[in-house]
Amino acid sequence: ASSSTFQRATETALHVRAALPDVLQNPKVAIVCGSGLGGLAQTIEPEPKVELAYETIPNFPRSTVQGHEGKFVFGLLGPQKTPVALLVGRAHFYEGHSMDLVTFATRVCKVLGVETMIVTNAAGGLNQDYAVGDIVCLNDHLNMAGLVGIHPLRGPNLEDFGVRFPPLSDAYDLDLRRRTHRAWKKLGLDKQKRRLHEGIYAFVAGPTYETRAECRMLRGFGADVVGMSTVPEIVVARHSGIRILAFSLVTNCAVLEAGSRGDDEALQAMTKAELDEHLSKGKANHQEVLEAGREAAKDMQALVKEIISDL
Ligand code: 6GU
Repeated sequence: ASSSTFQRATETALHVRAALPDVLQNPKVAIVCGSGLGGLAQTIEPEPKVELAYETIPNFPRSTVQGHEGKFVFGLLGPQKTPVALLVGRAHFYEGHSMDLVTFATRVCKVLGVETMIVTNAAGGLNQDYAVGDIVCLNDHLNMAGLVGIHPLRGPNLEDFGVRFPPLSDAYDLDLRRRTHRAWKKLGLDKQKRRLHEGIYAFVAGPTYETRAECRMLRGFGADVVGMSTVPEIVVARHSGIRILAFSLVTNCAVLEAGSRGDDEALQAMTKAELDEHLSKGKANHQEVLEAGREAAKDMQALVKEIISDL
């Protein structure tokens, strides 16, 4: 007989706890590190620190994307030596995992007693005011896949975790967002060129990047950034009462302009080299996503550490 999600999450939590020393048994904060944002794992205190590769953890999904390694890291982080659980790399829906698997690590965090989750990702910028390398503190989302039925809470309600119809109007914790802006100033990051915004994240299933028409649609709906992760985890975290703070790193700017008839004529007149140059400008690619991640990751790491220091 197949066991329930709660039983499997409990089994996984017991397996994980068996590997942890006393001081790391009860992480109050979990941090999900998105594309290129796993550097936080190297800034954890060297002792005590426990790293568990996802493939050694029962019931965990395997991540399959380049640049997303998969490990669960437990240790003490920041000036207050806060016990944390880091999820370095995550499972995405576009890899073929079920929504159950995509959100399984979040369930395990709940069973481990996590009260606050900080979720990070790399995302495409839709708001024309955003630049590559800016950081967006999410204050709301558009669950595009969820609205059409690809939803992690679909099916019989898991009463062990939460209620049938959870509200999401308060999903992005106001107190944590306030702390974020305070921390940004305290670290002097407001005196840099990189900016901190608050914005709305549109979750799409992927794996294709958006067409220009889709970008305009999402922008018209009010989205500031678009990406292929984070929202399923947030929905499942909120279902079970975990507080959420979420950040997107803007790694590229989604293209909103339409290809007009006039454009088409201009394109016809171009040489092959000119055409390649023109087309590459508007194309999202995984390489630039990883590069922008590396540069802005340090600021994001400093920000997260400062925030958790007084939780
Ligand atoms: Cl432009 N779109 C989506 N869906 N995900 C992204 C992205 C764009 N850039 C980084 N991740």
